[in-house]
Amino acid sequence: MTAKKDIFSGSIRVHPAKGLRGEVSVPGDKSISHRSVMLGSIAGGVTEVTGFLEGEDNLSTIAAFRSMGVKIDGPDNGRVVIHGRGMDGLTEPEDVIDAGNSGTTTRLLTGLLSAQPFFSVITGDSSLRKRPMKRVVEPLAKMGARISGRSGGNLLPLAITGSKLKGISYRTPVASAQLKSALLLAGIQAEGETIIEEPERSRDHTERMLALFGATVKTEGNSVIVGSTKKLNGCKIKIPGDISSAAFFMVGALITPGSELLIRDVGVNPTRTGIIRILKKMGASIEVLNKSGQRDSSGEPVADILVKSSLLKGVEVSGEELVPAIDEFPIICVAAAFAHGRTRITGARELRVKESDRIAVMSRSLSSIGVNNREEEEGIEIEGLGKGEAIGGEVESHGDHRIAMAMAMAGLRCVKGVGITGASSVDVSFPGFFEILSRVAVR
Ligand code: S3P
Repeated sequence: MTAKKDIFSGSIRVHPAKGLRGEVSVPGDKSISHRSVMLGSIAGGVTEVTGFLEGEDNLSTIAAFRSMGVKIDGPDNGRVVIHGRGMDGLTEPEDVIDAGNSGTTTRLLTGLLSAQPFFSVITGDSSLRKRPMKRVVEPLAKMGARISGRSGGNLLPLAITGSKLKGISYRTPVASAQLKSALLLAGIQAEGETIIEEPERSRDHTERMLALFGATVKTEGNSVIVGSTKKLNGCKIKIPGDISSAAFFMVGALITPGSELLIRDVGVNPTRTGIIRILKKMGASIEVLNKSGQRDSSGEPVADILVKSSLLKGVEVSGEELVPAIDEFPIICVAAAFAHGRTRITGARELRVKESDRIAVMSRSLSSIGVNNREEEEGIEIEGLGKGEAIGGEVESHGDHRIAMAMAMAGLRCVKGVGITGASSVDVSFPGFFEILSRVAVR
């Protein structure tokens, strides 16, 4: 196994600013980057990717496929070339696959490897080893997969003995793109049809990319249907900027008076733009400009986003509203902290099993910078400071990249700023985050 970066290390202090001004581009979409390597590896021919996110999570996915015999060039300035080996061309890895901090690598690979004719073991860092895997292991077992792991197959390491799978019809207990995608990647290798129905529709990047590689994917309401797929064809993929990374700068600009920031080339797939809808409901000035059709970026719509500082108001955010903004919970909490009035987020139980328990960690982090809030079982209630400043203080990222970036943005509105330990975690999804922040922050 290769050594992973220590994402629990590093500390940094973010000081108050007089605005975020200018233009930024954010790195490529993390979800789409993972999928490009996975599908490219099992496709026939070459897949050429540009705009690939060179974050730690995506490097874990590249390393995993290299260990199964796939030749992958790059990443070099966002360019990755994958020499696909076809649906039957992966080889048994010689060692345990280390997914690092990445839930997406783990869950999608578990689905994909369940149908490959060899033995594999997946593990990850201390955070990933606490995250629930039963949600994928159980339905995969119904398809005929043979997977075992700690805690009755719920925790990493997982050991997978590849077998012949049968399609199933399955209603997922949670809206989860990782779960849906694991079943789709197993489904295309299974005999017969696989039908997956979700309670709400999670991000659909796997469906879009499977279609791009030539698979037949049907979507009906909240259901997705795939059949046994003989061949995927390598292709060119241009990955748009990650809206989940853009979200930090959107909120940073909104809460810091004197801001006007243009964020270029952001993916605006409707299953991901919940953050724009929630912030607009809070009264944000956000314009989506130059929206492209879907061809330019390989099946994904792209736009520029212009944000101006706004006095936000507290709102109610429901579980359904949160599904297309699932990764934005920490930064929505920061927006709420500097809004006028109370914000209540409900139906957010899934946030307890992300890279950290994001409900508990955000509640504690906001308290330590002087923002009153109340943690609830499935959400949080936050008393916004309106035009006031927070005192600021010290917080710990718990190795969670999105906590570190959300609290960094809070620092822009704190008298003493915010000191963050575990700041290296930003490299999981946004290498260069602090450099970009220093460039656009007006002091
Ligand atoms: C992801 C799905 C989401 C999200 C994660 C990336 C994906 O997780 O939180 O950051 O790429 O499929 P869940 O499927 O667990 O909701």
